[in-house]
Amino acid sequence: VSATEALNRVDVQLGDRAYPVHIGPGARRLLPEILAGLGASAAFVVTARPREAAPDPGPAVRSRVLEVADGEAAKTMAAVAGLCEEFARFGLTRGDVVVSCGGGSTTDTVGLAAALYHRGIPVVHVPTSLLAQVDASVGGKTAVNLPSGKNLAGTYWQPAAVLCDTDYLASLPERERVNGYGEIARCHFIGAGDLRGLGIAEQITASVTLKARIVAADERDTGLRQVLNYGHTLGHAIEHVSDFAVRHGEAVGIGTVFAGRLARALGRIDAARSGEHEEVVRHYGLPTRIPAALAARDPDLVSQMRRDKKTGPGDGLVFVLDGPDGVEPVRGVPESVVRGVLAGLRE
Ligand SMILES: NC(=O)c1ccc[n+]([C@@H]2O[C@H](COP(=O)([O-])OP(=O)(O)OC[C@H]3O[C@@H](n4cnc5c(N)ncnc54)[C@H](O)[C@@H]3O)[C@@H](O)[C@H]2O)c1
Ligand SMILES: [Zn+2]
Repeated sequence: VSATEALNRVDVQLGDRAYPVHIGPGARRLLPEILAGLGASAAFVVTARPREAAPDPGPAVRSRVLEVADGEAAKTMAAVAGLCEEFARFGLTRGDVVVSCGGGSTTDTVGLAAALYHRGIPVVHVPTSLLAQVDASVGGKTAVNLPSGKNLAGTYWQPAAVLCDTDYLASLPERERVNGYGEIARCHFIGAGDLRGLGIAEQITASVTLKARIVAADERDTGLRQVLNYGHTLGHAIEHVSDFAVRHGEAVGIGTVFAGRLARALGRIDAARSGEHEEVVRHYGLPTRIPAALAARDPDLVSQMRRDKKTGPGDGLVFVLDGPDGVEPVRGVPESVVRGVLAGLRE
């Protein structure tokens, strides 16, 4: 029995840029086969994990492994330029492949370098955090941070394949695991159904299947892809106002509970469905309340939410909410209702 037989496969259907996502224990061992399929003669592996944990490109290609720093501070234009220079020194050509191995900060940065080098060369993502496996590595968004803000410089660059090796997750610190569950929890309400009780590979597979379907229908985030933003309007505001003391997934957990309560306050869903939000978020060990430290910050949360990327001129407050016709962006939500729901969500 081959070691990779137990893997799940999800295809992101984007025509001539379609690609597979392989999910399960040992998925990194597919790399040589993937490289052969791409016709690469060289592979440049950029890893934020220890060198020994990086996927092996195999003996058929010339390869190099470069260890890099990760985290938000490493998502810079300078890092991208540095990677491109390393690719050039190694002699990477347009027919070769870049491989990223790390969390979302690494797949975002390496993805952008691959998009720019030689005007774009194939990249294979090997995400190692739960958040990167369920979200960041799939969908083709790449970006780095600027001094003025997060993810301000980037491009769409779809990977050639994604290998979600669940063996990596064994070393993940508990807080990082919970952080990843924030993205899985919101999938419950945007079409994935109830994933509680499934094994981790199945939960990742279901989340990726959902994201793949949405990305295939709206690659450039002009409409449908906004449903992936479920729980994120308040989530992003909490991240900002807490100066990123609250992690992304944690903030999305709180934002998901808020989205349920707001939809209820607007008469879009019943009390049971609203309560389900809280149950699911709590099930994953995520926070369900706005931390006490932000108690006096509702005005800041509201003004931050007004700057949300879904908001166009004259839209007012915009949230992605559940309702009788399913999940959709809702514009012009009255601030008084938002304030009332926030007040009820205090720790
Ligand atoms: N492109 C997208 O669509 C998209 C979507 C969501 C998030 N993102 C980006 O992803 C980033 C967040 O992802 P993240 O949480 O993975 O960030 P990260 O890369 O900073 O990783 C989080 C932490 O987990 C550690 N880590 C990763 N894998 C590990 C492992 N196997 N064992 C032990 N420790 C491990 C890292 O060293 C780091 O300390 C943000 O920069 C965000 O903007 C991008
Ligand atoms: Zn998110």
